[in-house]
Amino acid sequence: ITVTLIAATGTECTVQARPGQSLMQAAIAANAPGIEADCGGLLTCATCHVYVREPWHAQLPPPSADEDSMLDFSAAERRPNSRLSCQIALTPALDGLVVDVPPTQY
Ligand code: FES
Repeated sequence: ITVTLIAATGTECTVQARPGQSLMQAAIAANAPGIEADCGGLLTCATCHVYVREPWHAQLPPPSADEDSMLDFSAAERRPNSRLSCQIALTPALDGLVVDVPPTQY
């Protein structure tokens, strides 16, 4: 599964991920800039915030109530396509996924 993270500076980072990995895990494993993930995926930090581009955003299961509340604590502006990347489970259907990384996670 190939995923691309685009930093606020425009720098693109393309990552190869395995099915079952979260987008956050794949990004951290590849040292993708701009994803901090301080809590390691426990849904308590909101420093793994991304903006998911279409058509992939519409394919994701909606955020859980906990993810939805944590998104209100993200440092960068919350947008309709904001998600926490530790909650995005990668599947073959998401091959080609493109997300924008906010300018800051703090
Ligand atoms: Fe902390 Fe996603 S890694 S909320």
